[in-house]
Parts: sequence; structure tokens; C-alpha cells
Amino acid sequence: MTQTLDELARTNLTSPEMAFSPFAFYADLLESAPVLWSERHHAWLISRYDDVSAAFRHEQMGADRITPYLKNQLSEAESERFGRVFEILAKWLVFLDPPDHTRLRKLMHKAFTPRAVQALQGKIQQTAARQAAAVKARLEAGEVVDLVAEFCEIIPPAIFSEMFGFSPEDGDNLKTWTEELGMFINGAPAGPGRDERVRAAVEGLETYFRGSIEQYRAKPVDDILSVLVQASDDGDALSDTELIATCITLIDAGYKTVQNAMCNAIYLLLRSEDGWERLASEPSLRTSAVEECLRLMGPAKTTVRRARGDIEFEGASIKDGDRVYLVLAAANRDPRRFDRPNDFVIDREDNQHLAFAQGIHFCLGSALARLELTSSLAELVTRVPRPELAVPAEELPWHRVLLLSGLERLPVRRAGDRA
Ligand code: HEM
Repeated sequence: MTQTLDELARTNLTSPEMAFSPFAFYADLLESAPVLWSERHHAWLISRYDDVSAAFRHEQMGADRITPYLKNQLSEAESERFGRVFEILAKWLVFLDPPDHTRLRKLMHKAFTPRAVQALQGKIQQTAARQAAAVKARLEAGEVVDLVAEFCEIIPPAIFSEMFGFSPEDGDNLKTWTEELGMFINGAPAGPGRDERVRAAVEGLETYFRGSIEQYRAKPVDDILSVLVQASDDGDALSDTELIATCITLIDAGYKTVQNAMCNAIYLLLRSEDGWERLASEPSLRTSAVEECLRLMGPAKTTVRRARGDIEFEGASIKDGDRVYLVLAAANRDPRRFDRPNDFVIDREDNQHLAFAQGIHFCLGSALARLELTSSLAELVTRVPRPELAVPAEELPWHRVLLLSGLERLPVRRAGDRA
């Protein structure tokens, strides 16, 4: 153990050092403080695999952290200004507890059929192949290429435009609004004017999706938004606010997560001894390689719960209303669960990681995310010879965000080229 319990409890999870390398901190938590009250964040940190898994299935570990926030943290004036933001957030699947969660998830499932996901494969492959070819050409011309901007950031919006039928211009606005909202939801440190930007982002998203929904009601087409608009179960259907919230949820849940999963995976492949080359030459490794990247550096570092009633949990007395952070990134490196937990083992077989959570909130888009990752990475490594980092690894800009892990930029150059 490198830090005392007191130091662990005071650690700032969004500091630049923690964004770059949280792994020694996770190892300390796993070894000596599996259920720790963080003085710094006013939340419990649960880190061991079995405990996180149990917490996901614990009925008193509630997902609704919007209602308590509305009640306790906002002044009357703020509630008025941000009322609509919270009304929309309160309808997000991920923030709902049963029975509301059960109802909404059943309706949303109708849109996420294996057939609907598989139908996106062509678009994913085509987009990834085009971007990989452009990256290759620029590397060969001796340029430094940012793989976040030129590859990882391009693929998820292209898929959303297929799912929701939006044009490239709409796509730019949606990207900006989603980023504003995503940083807020995922716990980025608040900068000046953030709250106003979040309000404007939700307003923009709401206006946009209200228009699309009306259009799709009048004239359905064969995409996921159309299915959601028409989804019904025994006469039950999604209300307009639920539909808008669901569209925003899907973009928020599926955009930055896939982008970050992709850049983390590329980072791991670049750093591994022969991962890039093996993935290029052995297609049978595609699935296990992606699962291993998700285990070691999944984009969802942590998920949040709120205690509904007092809970005795592994010797800790969690009080009604306490915030609980389930530290997936630590659980996925728990030596009690995984052999050689910190090593990148490209053909790992026993790999039931928690990157997509477990229990009733298990990621609804996991099949789509896996398809995007396996297809895109395959296109990249088969078309582009392994490049090298264009900056020292310790200078890479990791997001300083509580819940997400990923890079702002991933600059690479052709191996052997020196600036
Ligand atoms: C690698 C990419 C992804 C990762 C690592 C990921 C991870 C997660 C995690 C950990 C949760 C549970 C959150 C919680 O319990 O608080 C979740 C929920 C969810 N995810 Fe994903 N996700 C990814 C991609 C996607 C995509 C592409 C979509 C859809 C387009 C999506 C849609 C959702 C939805 C709707 C939920 C809420 C499920 C519920 O509450 O029942 N995700 N995801």
C-alpha cells in the first residue's frame, strides 16, 4: 500500500495526476479500503469486483440521483431556470428505478433488436475504412495525426446519423450540445458559464428532437428513432418528453463512451508489444482483444448510486441518501477475480468484466458498442501499419472527468519518423 487511508479518503479523483494514472490508487483501494468514504467527494467508493457486482444487484442501491439533487441542491431560482433540464434528465433510463425503469426499458428494447444493430454494420465498416485510409495517407506524408479527431470521434456520430436520420449540419450542432451535456453529467469540473451552456444544450436538443419526432410520426422510416416513436406495449407508449429524453440519452450514452473506448483501445494496442500486429493478422482475436481493452481501460470508470434507506454493506454503514461510486475501473483489475489483472492479455478467455455494468441497468447499447469497436479497430489495424506516439506517454491529455476515462487527443506519427 502506498497511501494511508486518510490520504485515500482525501484523493481528488479529477486531478490531472489521477486522470493520467489512477492505477496505484485503485490497487490501494482494492487491497486495504474496499468500501471507503471519500471525504473529498462525499461519496462511498466501492472497488472490489464481488462488491461492485453485489451493489449492482442491491435493491437499495438506487439509480435515481436526479430527484435528490433537485430537492436538496438547487435554489428556487435555479430550479426555475433549470427545471426543464431536470425534467428531461429525470426520464433517462439510467436514472430510473423500478417500476418506471422496467416500463421504459421494455419499450426501448423494441428498438435495440439484434437485427437493428446488425443493420448498422455496413455504415460502421465503411466509415472506419474511409477514416483509416485517410489516416494512413497522412502518416505516409510524414504528418502527425490525432487519432481522436481523425478516427475515434468520427465513427459514433456517423452511426447516430444513420440511427436517427440526421444531416451532417444537424450532426455538428448535436455534437456540440451533447458534449456540453455530457461533461456536466459525467462530472467534469465546472468552468465559467457551464450551467447556462448546459441549459442551452438541452434546449437545442429538445427543439431538434421534437421536430424529428413529429416528422417520423407523420412518415415513419426504417430506423431506430421510427421504432421508438411507434413502440408500444399493451397500449402503453413513450410520451413526447420520454421520447425526447430517450433520444438525448442514447446520444449521450453512446457517443463519448464509444469514442473513448476506441481511443483507449488504440492506446493499449500502441503500448502493447505486438497487439497491433496480432490483431491485424489474426481475425479470431477481434472479440477477445476488444473485451480486454474494455476490461483494462473501459470508458465508464465509475457509475453512481444513491442509498435508498440505511444499508450495512461489507462492514460499512451507508446512510439513507448517501452517494455511492461503483469504481468499475478498479473492479476490472481486482486480482481476486482476474489473473495478471494489470496485463494486456489479448486472448484472455475468462473475461466477465464490468465495463457495461450488471443487473437491471446493464448497458442497453453493449451489442452496438461491441460492433463499432471490433469493426473499426479491425479496419484501422489492417490498413495502417502500427504508428508510434508523437508525444511522450506521460504528456497525453487524459480527460479530467469523474466518470469517464479517455483522451482529448492521441497524436501519432509513422513509426521511425522524428519531428
Ligand atoms: C464502449 C461503450 C459503452 C460503454 C463502456 C457503456 C457502459 C455503460 C454502463 C457502465 C452503463 C450502466 C450505467 C449505470 O448503471 O449507472 C450503461 C448504461 C446504458 N448504456 Fe451504455 N455503454 C457504452 C455504449 C453505449 C451505446 C453505444 C449505447 C446506445 C446507443 C448505450 C446505451 C446505454 C443505455 C440506454 C444505458 C442505460 C441502461 C439502463 O439504465 O437500463 N451505451 N452503459
